[in-house]
Amino acid sequence: MTSGTATSEARATTAPPGKEVRVTGIGPRLVERRRAAWERWYGPVASARWVSALWHSLAWLVFGAGFVGAIVFVSSGLSESPGNVLLVLAAGSRLSAYIGATVGEIGFLRGIWMDGSQRMAWLEDYAAQLEEDADVPVPAELKDGIRLEGVSFAYPGTDRLVLQDVDLHLEAGSVVAIVGENGAGKTTLVKLLSRLYKPTKGRILADGADLARMPAADWRSRLAGAFQDFFRFEFKALQSVGVGDAARVEERPAVETAVDRAGADDVVEHLVAGLDTQLGPSWPEGVEVSFGQWQKLALARGFMRDQPLLLILDEPTAALDAETEHALFERYAETARGGRGESAPAGRITVLVSHRFSTVRMADVIVVMDGARVVEVGAHEDLMARGGTYAELYEIQARAYRQKASAVSG
Ligand SMILES: Nc1ncnc2c1ncn2[C@@H]1O[C@H](COP(=O)(O)OP(=O)(O)OP(=O)(O)O)[C@@H](O)[C@H]1O
Ligand SMILES: [Mg+2]
Repeated sequence: MTSGTATSEARATTAPPGKEVRVTGIGPRLVERRRAAWERWYGPVASARWVSALWHSLAWLVFGAGFVGAIVFVSSGLSESPGNVLLVLAAGSRLSAYIGATVGEIGFLRGIWMDGSQRMAWLEDYAAQLEEDADVPVPAELKDGIRLEGVSFAYPGTDRLVLQDVDLHLEAGSVVAIVGENGAGKTTLVKLLSRLYKPTKGRILADGADLARMPAADWRSRLAGAFQDFFRFEFKALQSVGVGDAARVEERPAVETAVDRAGADDVVEHLVAGLDTQLGPSWPEGVEVSFGQWQKLALARGFMRDQPLLLILDEPTAALDAETEHALFERYAETARGGRGESAPAGRITVLVSHRFSTVRMADVIVVMDGARVVEVGAHEDLMARGGTYAELYEIQARAYRQKASAVSG
């Protein structure tokens, strides 16, 4: 750890890990660790700055005294030569330049303060507003499922609807896949389901209760999963996975179970000290693993919670090859349906987002999105029989795959 950037990256204080930080509730622990690291590294810098400020003040004192003395000397009439008058003028202009520069610096600092603090204030207001009227408890289990009724959404500060009139029923206990081109609104939909935002219009109901009325932290504590823009928590492997459930971050058996659920055993086996391996090149003894391996660890983190109501997998396997993704999602779907020896989940809904149709077809229901709208909903066979967008895209991908396979074998 040598730089401030490395510190903030390793402490997850940048924007990308925001979703995971909030869903897992690890925030306070990170703040604590970041503060400790900051104090450790910033201490020497701060004291150097104090010494420098002291010298600056002394210099200004000498300069000020000299200038005042010069003015007194000239105006007293003891020395009225033009040279001396010029000297005082030059010194005066220098002084005014100094003052100008100082005022400029203060303005610059004020700008940073105002800009930064205003954004912060906006964010705090938005978060507080998410908690307003949060008086409905989160259901212990789902019987009906989650319903979206006429949901439209524009990101705060923008007018463009990135979701438009979405009506959907995600049945309790089902595996739902979402497909659609880049920017169609898949991740946005997932963010709304995670209660990171409220719909601009319409409602999301969990077993009939409005999600917007449930305390955000309570709802998120019943979520699990992994996101497209996962974060590399540069902790020991044990903690890097464990933070998926803040309360059990150091619990080895829970972490081992999560690694098994995610199918990430192969990654842990290859680490020099298994779960005790320090991850991340920012640390002197840290081990760097491949992007795909990071991604598998992020997946394991997503499987830390035992009984989530909603398991979200938003392209968490994009860095893995199609066969691995297929095998992993099959494993997750099997667990979701009560297989693999786990106790039957209480109506848990699994939402998976993928661009690979070979993976998507295994879902109970496929939601096809196009330009902020849901255009088709149904099982693979139904959608193929319909011959619409899904069938078309499926065929294109299948053809490309067949061509690649024949090129490899030929
Ligand atoms: N934080 C944000 N602020 C404003 N607009 C955003 C924000 N995040 C996403 N958008 C916009 O919302 C639209 C939908 O984005 P979203 O990330 O939901 O797409 P996606 O279907 O998940 O795409 P991909 O397949 O690339 O992951 C895009 O047009 C995007 O530019
Ligand atoms: Mg996305």
